[in-house]
Amino acid sequence: MQRSIKLSVFCGVSVDGFLARPDHKVDFLDTHEQEPHGYEEFYGSVDMVVIGRNTYQFVVSYGQWLYGKKPVVVLSSRPIDSSWIKNGVVEQMAGEPARIVAELEARGYRHAYIDGGVTIQRFLVAAELIDRMVISYVPVLIGSGMPLFGPLPHDIQLRHVATRTYRGGLVQNEYQVAGAPKLAKKQTPTPPAKKKKGVAKKR
Ligand SMILES: NC(=O)c1ccc[n+]([C@@H]2O[C@H](COP(=O)([O-])OP(=O)(O)OC[C@H]3O[C@@H](n4cnc5c(N)ncnc54)[C@H](OP(=O)(O)O)[C@@H]3O)[C@@H](O)[C@H]2O)c1
Repeated sequence: MQRSIKLSVFCGVSVDGFLARPDHKVDFLDTHEQEPHGYEEFYGSVDMVVIGRNTYQFVVSYGQWLYGKKPVVVLSSRPIDSSWIKNGVVEQMAGEPARIVAELEARGYRHAYIDGGVTIQRFLVAAELIDRMVISYVPVLIGSGMPLFGPLPHDIQLRHVATRTYRGGLVQNEYQVAGAPKLAKKQTPTPPAKKKKGVAKKR
């Protein structure tokens, strides 16, 4: 099976694998070392964003729209209120991840940023729809919270692409999901991905 849209994860977690505390706070992600770790390049390479309701709620509570003018799909089985967003483009979708991906592909999107723990888990379990995961591990254990990964019906094999280390103790691992459907040949690799390979080679 081939598809022309690439689906990527780029997130920060505690070493024990939590995206957020039980109350959704993400204060532990701040290492007090603001060294860039590739997010800007990554974000520049995606043409749309898919987030789960809880991630959306967090952004709403933050009070600042974090996604600029890129189209954002919020996944939820319930209505969402996006009336407060002034310049962004927000749409709600729900249902099977494979159907959602087919819809995004049909609209011509080529690289989607998938974010939110439950959302990522559902995309991974549904035919291993995620292609690439960049996970930055912050050197802290928080014991409980919203996990990046959860129970699986079967193993999902990953291919290690690179490990980068940063001041402040951040360790960033990049993986390809081995079973993800092949990307069609017309998919052009993004310049940031090339840059990252270069960085990894130097290390
Ligand atoms: N550290 C980081 O880099 C990072 C990144 C992202 C998020 N976060 C934080 O981590 C936490 C993530 O929360 P979370 O794991 O609960 O995940 P989430 O993926 O943000 O939200 C989960 C919710 O999204 C909806 N959903 C997901 N897939 C769906 C589908 N296919 N169809 C319909 N609805 C779907 C469901 O909402 P309904 O119940 O409404 O249907 C589900 O309960 C948040 O606090 C967020 O702010 C941290």
